[in-house]
Amino acid sequence: MKKKLGILLSGRGSNFEAIADNVAAGKIPAEIAIVISNRPEARGLEVARQRGIPAICIPSKGLDRETYDRLVVAELKKREVDLVCLAGFMRILSPYFIREFPYRILNIHPSLLPAFPGLEAQRQALEYGVKITGCTVHFVDEGVDSGPIILQAAVPVLNNDTVETLSERILREEHRIYSEAINIVLSGKYRIEGRRVILLED
Ligand code: GAR
Repeated sequence: MKKKLGILLSGRGSNFEAIADNVAAGKIPAEIAIVISNRPEARGLEVARQRGIPAICIPSKGLDRETYDRLVVAELKKREVDLVCLAGFMRILSPYFIREFPYRILNIHPSLLPAFPGLEAQRQALEYGVKITGCTVHFVDEGVDSGPIILQAAVPVLNNDTVETLSERILREEHRIYSEAINIVLSGKYRIEGRRVILLED
């Protein structure tokens, strides 16, 4: 049976779209079982529905972290999700959530971690003055952008870059490596040693 992905997002959903394109093209051997947003206005929800992918909003307003996460986890379990992909999901997960999906939650972050965790990573990189930045797909643990790294891609920072132009260059790499990382995890061709994710040959 095909593995099931659950996508969590809060906004635009371009990473979700890139994953959905690869699923549709048969490049990711899985199906997207559900898209969940914490924000009703997230464009990603609309994009999912247009593609015929089940998409729901579970609003987070007014709920404490674990109460909210219990609602999300219940929905993911109901849909029998094997792998949870955070795609611009702007919330920190509770330890409860992480325990329910051990090494089964991925996140994409727009910097070369451990540099520039948290919000506005592209702005942080530009303001710090680094010459190279990029993006990271990692397993989610209880810290902020701190779990074991699966893949990274680097991009140059150019003299005339703005947050927008840099973000765009990084985003192209995000769209590429997120699907690659999902395939690695689905294939099981890796082992974890401490913080290191060792990719295994065929
Ligand atoms: C992406 O750049 C992603 O890396 C970032 O939000 C954007 C979402 O775009 N995520 C984070 O900063 C998480 N800390 P998208 O909605 O178009 O995929």
